[in-house]
Amino acid sequence: MANASGLWGPSVPSLRRRAEFQRSMSMHGSVFCSREFIAKRVVCFSTTQGAEKQALGGSPAESRLPRLVSRGCKLIGSGSAIPALQISNDDLSKIVDTSDEWISVRTGIRNRRVLSAKESLTNLAAEAARKALEMAQVDADDVDMVLMCSSTPEDLFGSAPQIQKALGCKGNPLAYDITAACSGFVLGLVSAACHIRGGGFNNVLVIGADSLSRYVDWTDRGTCILFGDAAGAVLVQSCDAEEDGLFAFDLHSDGDGQRHLKASIKESKIDHAVGTNGSILDFPPKPISYSCIEMNGKEVFRFACRCVPQSIESALGKAGLDGSNIDWLLLHQANRRIIDAVATRLEMPQERVISNLANYGNTSAASIPLALDEAVRSGKVKSGDVIATAGFGAGLTWGSAIIRWG
Ligand code: ACO
Repeated sequence: MANASGLWGPSVPSLRRRAEFQRSMSMHGSVFCSREFIAKRVVCFSTTQGAEKQALGGSPAESRLPRLVSRGCKLIGSGSAIPALQISNDDLSKIVDTSDEWISVRTGIRNRRVLSAKESLTNLAAEAARKALEMAQVDADDVDMVLMCSSTPEDLFGSAPQIQKALGCKGNPLAYDITAACSGFVLGLVSAACHIRGGGFNNVLVIGADSLSRYVDWTDRGTCILFGDAAGAVLVQSCDAEEDGLFAFDLHSDGDGQRHLKASIKESKIDHAVGTNGSILDFPPKPISYSCIEMNGKEVFRFACRCVPQSIESALGKAGLDGSNIDWLLLHQANRRIIDAVATRLEMPQERVISNLANYGNTSAASIPLALDEAVRSGKVKSGDVIATAGFGAGLTWGSAIIRWG
């Protein structure tokens, strides 16, 4: 069990003022005079604690490993893509014993998109990435890293290089996958920031894409009603430390909770590779396959309602902020009741909560960038807005980040 927490933010709790300042500077077309405005101090640290200790209120700041870095990163483009096929709650009620009423009351979900056999998740991810590049006005050749956050790659060895190829990035940028289920995108965002700050990368595409419909047992009404397929992407670009758009983060995992949510490989029926007479059994091994998603919904629900607000509060604390400094709360879209419970705990009014769960269900690593992209394109989220975002899910993994858009 391990977690990592970080603070990359201003040394004063004046985010909103900073955002307003930057907005006014850009409105007046002036040069951002950063040094006088804010002293930049960046601290990253990690701890080793589990979900139980976190739940009991253990401080994640027990062991700090401070280091100073001088570069910042900002989120400047978003994109998303969804499959054509829409499946409503009524459609599902024709294949399992459920109803639109049960699903919408218990989860808030009304529709979800499902990849058809002819569609490809990699193509969907590439489409989302292309749109993010377009918004950011960054050429594919200038991308120097592609992070594909997904638990359902179409190649066991990862899909990111295929996305790099589909985008036509001529410089052969580093491309690799991150597997962390519904927390994948938040982890990808933090990883992008680390690569930019510590590795000299300039334009990092962070893509969240999943097709859990391929791992759902469509006869299990406890899980099949929840999930949908989608892809979302953001372009994270290096900038001066003063313009930094990732203020703090807080990341955790707890392997002990894996029993509550998993899609593990099917176990071999033969226990031993060597028989009693010395003969070799079960060799060569047969190709393995994964079982469908198995979930104890109640436990996952409790875990999310307990750990997500703690994580956001921890990240806010590291950034020297509180809920009043946040323009938007953007959680992994798993269940409306989880989103409401977290918003209530953080005292965030409904009008500052971003949610598109009703249309897409739980799209795993895609859910945060998909909702962000819709909110940006609809004009809801504007340049300079501060967002508290959090992912949670299988692993178990969970984490939050305090970011600024634009
Ligand atoms: N339609 C109708 N009835 C149903 C359905 C359904 N689809 N599913 C379950 N029921 C029934 C149950 O059989 C049970 O009946 P009983 O009382 O006669 O035994 C009753 O409804 C209540 O079932 P619960 O499982 O207790 O329902 P709950 O209120 O817990 O809701 C749900 C279930 C929606 C799954 C909820 O627990 C949940 O959202 N959990 C969190 C899941 C999640 O967030 N996962 C995120 C991570 S995903 C990832 O990382 C890949």
